[in-house]
Formats: sequence, C-alpha cells, structure tokens
Amino acid sequence: MTGPRQLDWLAREAAHLAPGASEESALGRRVFVEGRGAVLTDLDGNQYIDLAAGTLTQSLGHCHPEVVGALTEQAARLWNVHDSATADRAELCELLARLLPEELDTYAFFSTGAEVVEAALRAVQAVAEPGRNRIGALRHGFHGKTQGARMLVHWDIGHQSLAGNSILGYSPYCYRCPLGLEYPSCGVRCATLVRRHIAEKPNVSALVFEPVLGAAGVIVPPPGYWEQIAESCRENGVLLVADEVLTGGGRTGTFLASDRLGIEPDLVTLSKGLASGFPFAALAGRSAVLRHPDAARAGSTASTYSNNPLGIAAAKATLEVVARDRLIGQVRVLGALLDDRLAELHSRFEVLGEVRGIGLLHGLEFVRDRATREPAPEIARAVYLAALDLGLRASIGGHIIRLAPPFTIEPALLEEGIALLARALERAVEAAR
Ligand SMILES: Cc1ncc(COP(=O)(O)O)c(C=O)c1O
Repeated sequence: MTGPRQLDWLAREAAHLAPGASEESALGRRVFVEGRGAVLTDLDGNQYIDLAAGTLTQSLGHCHPEVVGALTEQAARLWNVHDSATADRAELCELLARLLPEELDTYAFFSTGAEVVEAALRAVQAVAEPGRNRIGALRHGFHGKTQGARMLVHWDIGHQSLAGNSILGYSPYCYRCPLGLEYPSCGVRCATLVRRHIAEKPNVSALVFEPVLGAAGVIVPPPGYWEQIAESCRENGVLLVADEVLTGGGRTGTFLASDRLGIEPDLVTLSKGLASGFPFAALAGRSAVLRHPDAARAGSTASTYSNNPLGIAAAKATLEVVARDRLIGQVRVLGALLDDRLAELHSRFEVLGEVRGIGLLHGLEFVRDRATREPAPEIARAVYLAALDLGLRASIGGHIIRLAPPFTIEPALLEEGIALLARALERAVEAAR
C-alpha cells in the first residue's frame, strides 16, 4: 500500500499534474526519494528491489558512485555550449568505437530515444534514392512518441498513429503467431513474408526495427528470422536501422542485441543503457551514411541539448564501468539465473502463459487460460501491485510484466526479488479465486 506521506504528496501534485502517466506509475502511486544500486526507497521509508532498473536505464544501478562523480564534476564546470566540442566527447567517441562493431564508426549525440530515432529517419531520408520515400517497420515495434517515430508505431498510441508513410512486416511473435503457425515447423514464414514484402516494394528506403521487441513484451526472434530479413534488405538496397534504444549497451548479453542476433545494421540508435538515466542518446552509423554529404549538412546533428556535456560525462562514465568491470559477461551469467528462476515460476503458475527473455531482459505474459491464451491484464496488474507492496518494483504494460535488473545486482538480491515475485503471484492468484 502507498504510505501516508506519499498519499499526501500525490494528492498535492494531482491538483495540477496532467494525467497521462505510464501505467506503471499511475498504478503504483509511489513517491521515490532515493536509489542506491538495485534498491529504491520511498517517502515513507519503504524499500524496493528495482528489477525494472529505472526504466531500463540503470544498468549500473541507481547513483553509481563513478557516474555521480563524473556528473558532479561536470556540473561544477560546464553545462551547455550548444553542440561545441568538449574534451570528453572525443573520448566517448573512442569508447564507442571500441564497443561497437568496427563498421559503426561515426556517431552523433542527442537527448532521448525518440529524438535519436528522428535523427536516424532524417539520415535515411537524406541518403535515400529518389522514389524511395517509405520506411519499413514491424508490427509490435515501438520507437517513441514524436511524429516520425509514431509513423512507425501501430499500437500503443491507438487511433492517433500516423501510419502514413510506413509499411509493416510481421514481427516474430511466436506465442501469438499472426499466421497461426508453430515454430519450427513454420519455417519462419513471418520472415519469408517480410522478405517478400521488401523485395516487392521498390519504394522502401530503410527497415527500422527493434532486434528484440521490448515494449511489446520482450519478443525474442527465433533463429532464422533476422538472417532472412537482413539478407533481403541487403539485396534490395534497404538500409537496416536497428533501434537499440532499449536493447543497446549490453542488456541482452552483447553490447548490441544485433551482435548477438547476427544483424549488421547501417544505423543504430542507443539511449536507455547509455548514461545511467541521464537523458542521453547516440546515433551510430556507417560513415557511408552519416558522412554522406546530404546527411551531413550543417546543423543536421545539432539541437539545444544535443551533445550536452552532462550527458556526455554520464555516458562516458557509464560505459567505462561497463567495459572495465566486464559487466556484459555478468549480464549473461545473471541472465541464465533469471531464465532458470522464471522457468520455475512458469511451471508453478498457470497464469503465466509464456516467460521469455534474453540476457537481463525478460517478459512475463499473463493469460486467463493457457489453452486460449487470452491476455489477462487484470492479473498482471494484481501481481505488479502485490509485488510493490512486498518490496519489488517491476515494469508493466497491459498483460505483460517486464524484468530488466541492473547489471550490477548481487545474485542473492536477484534471487530475493524473484522470491518476492513468486509471493506476489501467489497473492494475486489467491485473490482471483
Ligand atoms: C526501442 C525504443 N525506441 C525508442 C524509444 C523512445 O525513447 P524515449 O522514451 O526516450 O523517447 C523507446 C522507449 O521506450 C524504445 O523502447
């Protein structure tokens, strides 16, 4: 239950704050005052294991001392000089060059996920051959809420979506296969259809995609999906734009999910795992695209907060720790532990239709009945709220709960978090009887 001091503050802000918060915060109704590592504290002094890592931003946990140190030092020195160079920027570029595939050697820096997706779309439009005026995207993809990004998103935003200039392909949502097929006997037909689509539409300039679809519930593609689609894009001159705002930075067990899935993108967007929760984003690309004279026109990578020195300091400190402490290896180890524990929950609780994931990114899909697979958002909500009451924070969207712990979480604390989730499931199932 939300404590009394928090209720007071929530009532005060409700007098002025526009509605429209995420399901997570609107339902949860907590006022957080502090985060340390993987633990949050609310205004009434209750603590929570944060298995949502902020909003998948806190790869190093909350307030990692080295990131706090870098930000504090930068805050005392310099905040904004438009997009002029600062000393850290060269070092951040060099660090990215070490972490990213060799061919992604050119970078531009922004503030948010949606802003960097827009920048990628501008680059695509700039280099596209005449007549290639449409963008390919996947059903269930999420890319942000600005106009260009919304053009690619056909769910979540409902009647407001601007489907206008985008063409959709099937996502690899095996649990709810739109073609009614089963993997592997399907032969990954969804990919065959996307492939055909790409070959038949000469006006498509790029495919913008999440390698693993995050917001829609951690949809992990089966082997063969990306191989077919990427090959088709290459054959047909369609640029591959991997939106790794959510998956990038190590979350899936490699620096890019694309690395793990064997995709070689032309452009990549990064944000959430990059700067420990400071608003920051990076566009990484092949020099043939980002140094193309039409993409590199004066001002094309500039905005008020692009290249912000604070964001650069936070990103540099974050990535230095990720690299130095070999945290991506740790993601694979902890990810295997999480896989095991969630498989146990899946075998115990019928309301879990499917549990799936990669690295430290997992989705739990709640159903009313395993046979019909009817989504059960009310059960997901009950579990989410029971977990909060027990001291566990997860992330929720519709009938899906997502878990994305910090890379630095102690295994024992992760186990404790899963034990709390099990108790939350027991409570919710009991209450639903
Ligand atoms: C894959 C992906 N792209 C883009 C965005 C948009 O990022 P932002 O909310 O920072 O605008 C998100 C946000 O969740 C995302 O998951």
